Amino acid sequence: MSLCFSSNLCTINSARHQSFSIRFSSQFIKLLQVSPFPHALPSSSLNLSEPFKFSKKRIKPIAASTPTQAIETTPSAFRNKNPKDINILVVGSTGYIGKFVVTELVKRGFNVIAIAREKSGIRGKSDKEETLAQLHGAKVCFSDVAHLDTLETSVNDLGVSIDVVVSCLASRGGGVKDSWKIDYEATKNSLLAGRKYGASHFVLLSAICVQKPLLEFQRAKLKFEAELMKEAEDDDGFTYSIVRPTAFFKSLGGQVELVKHGKPYVMFGDGKLCACKPISESDLASFIADCVLSEDKINKVLPIGGPGKALTPLEQGEMLFRLLGREPKFLKVPIGIMDFAIGVLDFLVKIFPSMEDAAEFGKIGRYYAAESMLILDPETGEYNAEKTPSYGNDTLEEFFAKVLREGMAGQELGILEGLIWTTR
Ligand SMILES: NC(=O)c1ccc[n+]([C@@H]2O[C@H](COP(=O)([O-])OP(=O)(O)OC[C@H]3O[C@@H](n4cnc5c(N)ncnc54)[C@H](OP(=O)(O)O)[C@@H]3O)[C@@H](O)[C@H]2O)c1
Repeated sequence: MSLCFSSNLCTINSARHQSFSIRFSSQFIKLLQVSPFPHALPSSSLNLSEPFKFSKKRIKPIAASTPTQAIETTPSAFRNKNPKDINILVVGSTGYIGKFVVTELVKRGFNVIAIAREKSGIRGKSDKEETLAQLHGAKVCFSDVAHLDTLETSVNDLGVSIDVVVSCLASRGGGVKDSWKIDYEATKNSLLAGRKYGASHFVLLSAICVQKPLLEFQRAKLKFEAELMKEAEDDDGFTYSIVRPTAFFKSLGGQVELVKHGKPYVMFGDGKLCACKPISESDLASFIADCVLSEDKINKVLPIGGPGKALTPLEQGEMLFRLLGREPKFLKVPIGIMDFAIGVLDFLVKIFPSMEDAAEFGKIGRYYAAESMLILDPETGEYNAEKTPSYGNDTLEEFFAKVLREGMAGQELGILEGLIWTTR
């Protein structure tokens, strides 16, 4: 059963994979900050509301549910329409980035249909009313992206055709099965449902780290990316834009308050093992919104970072102490500690298969402690900051200054991050 509401009446380093993974490192670091000798890793139908105006025209009656049987579409036809006549289906609308994407698309005048769960957000803490308020300006459709039939019924009940699908879906838990369920299957469901109801363009929020896929969620994302590209190859009437951002601000803010309260800034190795060009939620949302109409973003994989130079953990720490007006105090931890933790988890998972996710989280943490979130040059095998495009205006320094003033409000921890916190 699907229920859809209008938000006109009345939207977090989260646990999706990359976000979680970076956070895992961050929480690991917090453990290290507590003690320089960490012992172990913690273990209806739609009620179209008045003010909301959809383009109600369907291109053709719906015949079938697979992309190959989808409504015939013309690649750029919707780009000639007025934004108010362009229907955009957003999945993952209640996530850290998804909420900003919905706001940005609404601001640009599109008809935004936001798919949400009845209990959304981290640990399902937002009820319908809160979700409606968070997604103000969008038509909120309560449905289930994990089940194709349900999703298709919901979209059918909307009674309108879809022009564009934007996916900001990601597993909140970051575990192996959930990654495949959300980053692959649910995302594919949104492609299938969108295609069935006319979508001729798909904007995918992916991650730059899929360039070097060592983790399950990266493999799940890559599988979907490949199928999305194949869909465009097979059908001239269909296009995509795959957005692969570098690190989000929230993923780098985990130590700010601890350092503010006198703890050292913890980094792995010499603090130069990795680097990134962090991008804010709103700058990324703006880039994603650009992908709806910009012809130069059609059928492209788009790595994207924030403004300014790439920053190593060492430079991020120096920045933080500069803002605090204090002498830097660093705790440099050998990366081998992460390797040890992963080794223990890998051993345990052989005895206790149910620890599969814990072992994966260890790998995720290790990955983000050492791999840069920058363009990987296939020729040299090196990360390249200069080749990593920049977008937007918000800087990490401004973000750190804000967190120092106001705390990490709006940057809530995911389920597993929360668990790790409680072990402190
Ligand atoms: N963190 C980083 O630094 C970073 C960097 C580059 C790329 N990325 C990528 O950015 C993407 C989005 O990140 P984010 O932080 O915005 O994600 P997020 O806050 O965890 O949001 C995930 C979204 O997916 C939905 N979702 C998850 N499981 C679901 C389920 N079982 N059924 C229905 N919906 C479900 C959530 O809905 P609910 O609200 O109902 O749970 C939410 O809307 C991820 O793919 C990540 O890999 C992250």
